Amino acid sequence: MASILRVRDLHVHYGVIHAIKGLNLEVSDGEIVAIIGANGAGKSTFLNTVAGMVRPSNGHIEFMDRRLPPRSHEVVRAGIALVPEGRRVFGNLSVYHNLVMGAYLRNDPAGVRNDRDRVYALFPRLKERERQPASTLSGGEQQMLAIGRALMSRPRMLLLDEPSLGLAPILVKDIFVTLKEINREGTTILLVEQNARQALDLAGRAYVFQTGSIVLSGPSRELLANKQVQEAYLGSRAGMRAASRPGPRGRERPASGGSPAE
Ligand SMILES: Nc1ncnc2c1ncn2[C@@H]1O[C@H](COP(=O)(O)OP(=O)(O)OP(=O)(O)O)[C@@H](O)[C@H]1O
Ligand SMILES: [Mg+2]
Repeated sequence: MASILRVRDLHVHYGVIHAIKGLNLEVSDGEIVAIIGANGAGKSTFLNTVAGMVRPSNGHIEFMDRRLPPRSHEVVRAGIALVPEGRRVFGNLSVYHNLVMGAYLRNDPAGVRNDRDRVYALFPRLKERERQPASTLSGGEQQMLAIGRALMSRPRMLLLDEPSLGLAPILVKDIFVTLKEINREGTTILLVEQNARQALDLAGRAYVFQTGSIVLSGPSRELLANKQVQEAYLGSRAGMRAASRPGPRGRERPASGGSPAE
């Protein structure tokens, strides 16, 4: 598969804080790639830099074989849409108008209407709440709206920053199923998640960030089997979730019930 995003030797500084330290990363057209890592590892900084919200101090980013332009609206025009951490929908605007805002760079009204219908088909709850101010939606519905709004620019690649944050497990599952659907329809996905197991279940490949650097990368299958990843990112969280639903840890254990780490 052809590479759609190429990042070379990327550095980001916030004043004296060196948040991204010489990052190299590649995403192929049509892939779902996950980025996992602890708090402060630089995951959001990385996505925000690709999206043109943060200026890198060094390095370069290529998208579809062209150097990515620096400003955020140019990045959207180039075909990348970000669903930011914490959703950030326009609370005083209706669901409908939030979606309209997502298409603000387009001038193909028929295409925009089609894409709005597609978003409503992906998230029927948004259709039911079309006229409601976004501030009155539940957290999960706001996340659906944030994803829907990003889709309204008809991106080739969708960047998602912690889509599962604060959502009930059942809703996380729904949203991840929808992401898979969006990907099947042709959108490449780069996903940041603290919920490492969900992310690795969804993505084909992943990168592990640690204090601004990539410390591990590879097929999700291999990372799921990696001891370091299990201990640092799958341990306690997976254990906590296992208490609320039977899935995750049960699946990695042999039927006879071996050690949880294997
Ligand atoms: N606007 C900013 N000004 C100064 N420092 C910042 C700023 N944004 C982030 N940082 C710092 O950069 C580092 C990386 O932060 P970032 O938000 O990218 O981490 P993250 O991996 O997304 O973490 P989390 O999992 O908590 O969301 C942190 O040390 C953070 O304190
Ligand atoms: Mg973050």
